[in-house]
Amino acid sequence: MQFFQYTNRQLCAENIPLAEVASEFGTPCFVYSRAAIEHQWRAYDEAFAGRKHLICYAVKACSNLAILNLLARMGSGFDIVSGGELQRVLRAGGDASKVIFSGVGKTREEMRRALEAGIKCFNVESHSELLVLDSVAEEMDRIAPVTLRVNPDVDADTHPYIATGLRENKFGIDINDAGNIYREAMSLDNLRVEGIDCHIGSQITSVAPYLNALERLMELVGQLRENDIPIRHIDVGGGLGITYNNETPPEPSRLVETIMEAIPDPSLEILIEPGRSIVGNAGLLLTRVIYLKRGREKNFAVVDAAMNDLIRPSLYSAWQEIVPVSEEAAATPERYDIVGPVCESGDFLGLDRDLALREGDLLAVFGAGAYGFSMSSNYNTRPRAAEILVDAGQAHLVRCRESIDDLLRGEAMLE
Ligand code: LLP
Repeated sequence: MQFFQYTNRQLCAENIPLAEVASEFGTPCFVYSRAAIEHQWRAYDEAFAGRKHLICYAVKACSNLAILNLLARMGSGFDIVSGGELQRVLRAGGDASKVIFSGVGKTREEMRRALEAGIKCFNVESHSELLVLDSVAEEMDRIAPVTLRVNPDVDADTHPYIATGLRENKFGIDINDAGNIYREAMSLDNLRVEGIDCHIGSQITSVAPYLNALERLMELVGQLRENDIPIRHIDVGGGLGITYNNETPPEPSRLVETIMEAIPDPSLEILIEPGRSIVGNAGLLLTRVIYLKRGREKNFAVVDAAMNDLIRPSLYSAWQEIVPVSEEAAATPERYDIVGPVCESGDFLGLDRDLALREGDLLAVFGAGAYGFSMSSNYNTRPRAAEILVDAGQAHLVRCRESIDDLLRGEAMLE
């Protein structure tokens, strides 16, 4: 299904021309489609039909309250990695009993707040964390529900910065040590073992790495159960890739079918933590060409969005499609680097793109719904972009563009 498409040569979000969005809200801005987000979430949910499951949307991918609220209304759970993300989920009306808490550096304060809220589970990533969680729970006279996040040492075949399931990565507990740590968890009075967890990486474009990981996990589950360690749920993590260029990742339904086959025991609840595959292609970054600059070696289109708005191209050499909002450009196509105003040569949104451009034209960068706004910063004292959510023929401002005053708030000079 297409949620961003050309009508009368004008790129639209659902049926709203993006040129109208730009003139109403200014650029740069992120534009999301409600229908696209809901379509992707349902694709997971429907594929699980009849099987005990919980979809825990990975909040870090795009954490705008309006989007979390849409997902909460559909009954989604959430995967969080900080106290801040917990607060967002609760503020957006999310159900704490469907929240799982991942991450290698949970603080005592974050644990306290999550216990108070009554989250479903902590995904514990180290022996030290296990002991601290037990002590925080004891102080609060609570029992903390836990899984161990196991590192299965499998190659997710993705960018090294976003592979997480290899022994050399900081994530999870080595699968060979997990048995002992589970036994210890069982002996701690303020913890309750609920299940097992893994997350092997992001932008994974085939089912093979999941199968490798699950094979190892299921073997461990068997051993744990033989030792009377109860495993009620298995969390398979997130990571399913999307098409930015010519990648051909499996559909969510195909991934879910594969996972269900690898976990034949129907009494095991399956948790999954998708982020990118729900929101990635449900959002784009809208930007305007400020200057066309012709050089001896290269032509540059200097646009009003930069690496502070969308860091993926700079950080991971990620390729994201860039298209004109109007197909009626009178110019002839030329090859451009699409660059921002930030003072770094690594500040680009795309390199060597053939586009017919004039100054003032609007461009859309696709695939910006995930890890776009959520990774944006104020580098170069640039206010973060506005966020717009399109729903049923209307464009709603769901985050105001920051003002310079917003940026300076909290700073002080010496007397
Ligand atoms: N669960 C855990 C524990 C995670 O660490 C992540 C992502 C997810 C779920 C969601 O993964 P997804 O379904 O979105 O692939 N900034 C990078 C991606 C970083 C992913 C971090 N962890 C990028 O822009 O490619």
